[in-house]
Amino acid sequence: MNKAKHIAIIMDGNGRWAEAQGKKRVKGHEEGAKVVKAITTYCSSIAEIERLTLYAFSTENWKRPRLEVEFLMKLLDTYLQKELPVYLQNNVRFEAIGDIQGFSKKLQKTIKTVEEKTAHCDGLTQSLALNYGSQDEILRAMNRLKNSQEDITLEMMSKELDCKHDVDLLIRTGGDHRLSNFLLWQSAYAELFFTDILWPDFTPKELEKIIKKFTKVERRFGGLK
Ligand code: FPP
Repeated sequence: MNKAKHIAIIMDGNGRWAEAQGKKRVKGHEEGAKVVKAITTYCSSIAEIERLTLYAFSTENWKRPRLEVEFLMKLLDTYLQKELPVYLQNNVRFEAIGDIQGFSKKLQKTIKTVEEKTAHCDGLTQSLALNYGSQDEILRAMNRLKNSQEDITLEMMSKELDCKHDVDLLIRTGGDHRLSNFLLWQSAYAELFFTDILWPDFTPKELEKIIKKFTKVERRFGGLK
């Protein structure tokens, strides 16, 4: 049976969820943050899940209206500060992937503080993709390696990427079937699951169902059975 050691999620559908209820889009992000907490807590209670990587803000999300971007920045800051005791209680290590230098000094400081204070936790690692784009991640890694005397190997690349771990199970909520520049390198052999459920309606029960299906998939990694 497959083990979902590394689960990655594209959390899509916050805006549509809010609009469907006649609310402002940002209400959907607020509700989405509650689901981040519920899914993280659930994953931290399942021993086989070692890593949960969540796409929270992409390098392309800066194109959104200024007020929505500002709201998301504030929400992230508040969320991380408020969640620190919960991370510690659940033995969850927090890390950010992406180019966080693009954020305000204040948000960068909150991110670093929560990373440092949870560094000793050895249960689940919750990795938030922040100002993250897979192409940007690969370019940054290649630029660091370009002066290497030897030919670049897969191992060298893997070590330089922000996320150094292959994805087992990649889920996208919200009905679209695309990867949107998320963990392209690490998902080379990930199993992809798409659900129409909008992120604010996603539940640990739904995740459990997907994991159950994933465990039964035959993964061949390019080989034969
Ligand atoms: C996509 O929904 C979601 C985002 C761009 C942001 C994800 C943010 C959250 C889940 C909440 C904040 C996260 C944390 C960790 C506190 P969308 O706005 O593209 O939805 P739409 O496709 O319906 O417009």
